[in-house]
Amino acid sequence: MTAETEDYPSKITLYVVVCWILAAFGGLMFGYDIGISGGVTAMDDFLIKFFPKVHERKMHAKENNYCKYDDQNLQLFTSSLYLAALVSSFAASKVCTKFGRKPTILLASAFFLGGAALSAAAQNLWMLIIARILLGIGVGFGNEAVPLFLSEIAPVQHRGAVNILFQLFVTIGIFFANLVNYGTLKMHPYGWRVSLGLAGVPATMLCIGSLIITETPASLVERGKELAGHKTLKQIRGVDEVDSEFDQIVRASKIAQEVKHPFKKLMKLSSMPPLIIGIMLQVFQQFTGINAIMFYAPVLFQTVGFKNDASLLSSVITGTVNVLSTLVSVYAVDKIGRRKLLLQACIQMFICQTAIGAILLVHLHSKDSLTKTQAAFVVTLVCLFVMSFAWSWGPLGWLIPSETFPLETRTAGFAFAVSSNMLFTFIIAQAFLSMMCHLRASIFFFFAAWIFAMGLFVLFLLPETKNVPIDVMVDRVWKKHPVWKRFMVGDGGS
Ligand code: BGC
Repeated sequence: MTAETEDYPSKITLYVVVCWILAAFGGLMFGYDIGISGGVTAMDDFLIKFFPKVHERKMHAKENNYCKYDDQNLQLFTSSLYLAALVSSFAASKVCTKFGRKPTILLASAFFLGGAALSAAAQNLWMLIIARILLGIGVGFGNEAVPLFLSEIAPVQHRGAVNILFQLFVTIGIFFANLVNYGTLKMHPYGWRVSLGLAGVPATMLCIGSLIITETPASLVERGKELAGHKTLKQIRGVDEVDSEFDQIVRASKIAQEVKHPFKKLMKLSSMPPLIIGIMLQVFQQFTGINAIMFYAPVLFQTVGFKNDASLLSSVITGTVNVLSTLVSVYAVDKIGRRKLLLQACIQMFICQTAIGAILLVHLHSKDSLTKTQAAFVVTLVCLFVMSFAWSWGPLGWLIPSETFPLETRTAGFAFAVSSNMLFTFIIAQAFLSMMCHLRASIFFFFAAWIFAMGLFVLFLLPETKNVPIDVMVDRVWKKHPVWKRFMVGDGGS
């Protein structure tokens, strides 16, 4: 199902590489936020200040391994960020279309900066939650604009790799957050303030970056700035003969201009294929169970019997695996293709989740803990799980929705993908600890069942988009797919 590559000439210039990297700092921010909360919520000083009841329960935790952290307020600390991101991604889509990708990224960094400062200074739970909301708005804006930015300025034959820089920075952000938490754990009583406040560092970098990067040619043309769009395309491609690619962008933009209400257009039958794929990839990405591990790794490892800093160390290990395996994807995505990576990972993740569930079911009861060997085995399985997620569902969950919508519905459609990601991240963040308390080891079987379903989805419904230029996706991919072509009937502009 792969269409042959249309060879738009391009060189990789220093400036374009700088743009890719600076924009990808949006991923670093997102990753830092994901990684920091699990460690912070495992810190005693933090719990004593904001969640004294949870702390008390933890002190007498021998009573039940699976339930010691089950507290809706504590989970709200982690998950409020995703609710805010969910709502704000729609506003971000409007800003992205009207003002461009670059200002949207600048706005994201401003929210991040505000959120980082407020969370480091928080005196009570409400300040903390408001700070999380500001960070969430930052995530909504950043996650909407950065993947689109990267996909639009990448040359077609490297689009996957360039887009995955976002996810690579997400994983680096998570990794740094784990390291920071490891370092601040013993800084009494304000280690948690340092952890939360250091989010200001990537936020500052993103802010500076957003002033240096270019606007994407597609966004410039879409907003009537054709000359600037042509100039920018030449600059980022590093060659003079960009006319055929530029014509393609102009054609896409003409169609886009006929569509006055992108969200309405998105509800039409012909928009369903990328919309369904974009939303389902995000739902599935979250139901792999990855964030049960990312947010709660320290808590999870304590549950299976590690001491406080041993468990943070284990999450540093999973963080390293996450970063390194994402590099595999940067290399493989434009060569092996999207579908094969996703399918291979389904098999590996299914085996890991089932095996973790089985070990905990047999060996971890409410009151005892695993032996050292058993616990080491669980950590290994978690690493194998994270590894396969990192070269597949992690990056491709962001890449595919950013490259499959036509220009007229791109920002609106991608907003649905971002907000679905946030909604299901929120659900997992809010429910995981309670689910673990009730389902106990079976929670891992629950995730395994989802992984099975997503494998079937990819097998039958996901087209390969490797090497297809972004602005001809409709003709080359959707109109040719055995299932989705039935949706591609003309239903006009709107
Ligand atoms: C997901 C996050 C996840 C991260 C792990 C991202 O693609 O959207 O929810 O925590 O990958 O690396």
